[in-house]
Amino acid sequence: MLLPDVSALANVIFKEIDKAGPMPFVRFMELALYCPDLGFYERFPHRIGRRGDFYTSVSVGPLLGRMLAFRFSRWLGELESAGGRWQLVEAGAHDGQLAVDILTWFKEHAPATFDRLDYLILEPSGRRESWQRAKLGELGFGGRWIRSWSDLPAGSLRGILFSNELLDAFPARRYGWDAQARKWFEYGVDLRKGQLVWCRLPPTVDGEAGSPPEVPGPIQSMLPDGFAVESVPEARRWWRQAAAALSGGYLMTIDYGFDRAAALDPTRPQGTLRAYRQHRMLSDLLADPGEQDLTAHVDFAALREVGEASGLRTETLVTQGRFLTGVMEQVVRFHAPGFDWSRAARSQIQTLTHPEHLGDRFKVLIQFGAGMA
Ligand SMILES: C[S@@+](CC[C@H](N)C(=O)[O-])C[C@H]1O[C@@H](n2cnc3c(N)ncnc32)[C@H](O)[C@@H]1O
Repeated sequence: MLLPDVSALANVIFKEIDKAGPMPFVRFMELALYCPDLGFYERFPHRIGRRGDFYTSVSVGPLLGRMLAFRFSRWLGELESAGGRWQLVEAGAHDGQLAVDILTWFKEHAPATFDRLDYLILEPSGRRESWQRAKLGELGFGGRWIRSWSDLPAGSLRGILFSNELLDAFPARRYGWDAQARKWFEYGVDLRKGQLVWCRLPPTVDGEAGSPPEVPGPIQSMLPDGFAVESVPEARRWWRQAAAALSGGYLMTIDYGFDRAAALDPTRPQGTLRAYRQHRMLSDLLADPGEQDLTAHVDFAALREVGEASGLRTETLVTQGRFLTGVMEQVVRFHAPGFDWSRAARSQIQTLTHPEHLGDRFKVLIQFGAGMA
């Protein structure tokens, strides 16, 4: 079946539904964001920033990268003093801008470490890897690319594995409450009269936290029909694999989400899944697949538990504002080079740390592995 008036990606989705029946939303989101050549994150590098669909802390300017680089330099110092080799691994690097900001700080202000730096990018997509290679190459930076966890098997990594806004971009399962039957269904996507529409499917229970929450008896009659929650089993799996890869060093992620997700939040009857396009938040998650970003809040408490169950210890789970203020204090205390207090820098600090800008919305989870107590 080919419907000529829809996008190539909509056609891929239509065909899959035509062949196999309605798809769970999690599959729709996977295709919408990552379908090779056609998905939102596959087509152009400039999805993020002023010309794109949404901002991240990286688009605010180079300050986040500089502050991370300075923080990393201190962790790398600890690793070096314990002896042996180490790596710095970024995941979710998209167009490579954060890598450029970090590498630039090291090159200009910690050249001895820069010379020993083994910077790896964990990137499953060949397309995105080519954008990153081009951007780093233009500035004369090297790097190494790895595709999957098989390139980072258990215990093979000593160093720092970090990401900014990675896990909120993982495909989410979306469950809904059937008020009449008083049980969960799974939101699916079907095709009716040439349009993608929501449908109700039996819930997939994924074993790895991919199941809807228990609803206490008295609440069951109060939950409105269609009340939505989501679960991102892939984020837990990713964190477990990251924890397993780390033989020593730090695992860190910055993202927006909950310290402890309220299982049933009455203020969010539609859950936390959102669409973004040209800097506007949109409620129609099924509209124009591949043309809008889809994202769900990260459940940090779940990640924390996964890391701890895998043997990591938690250094901190704080807001981005508190984390960066702490880094700033160290910048001042240790007279770190490469930081100025120009108007542009002050404005970036304010945007990154102020509670009403990005300071409270984003959280930082840092866990560490053996030998870093
Ligand atoms: C919201 S963007 C963030 C980009 C960048 N870190 C920033 O902060 O501006 C998320 C990126 O993670 C990528 N991504 C998704 N799944 C991934 C995975 N399993 N491993 C590495 N990157 C992934 C997406 O393609 C996208 O480029």
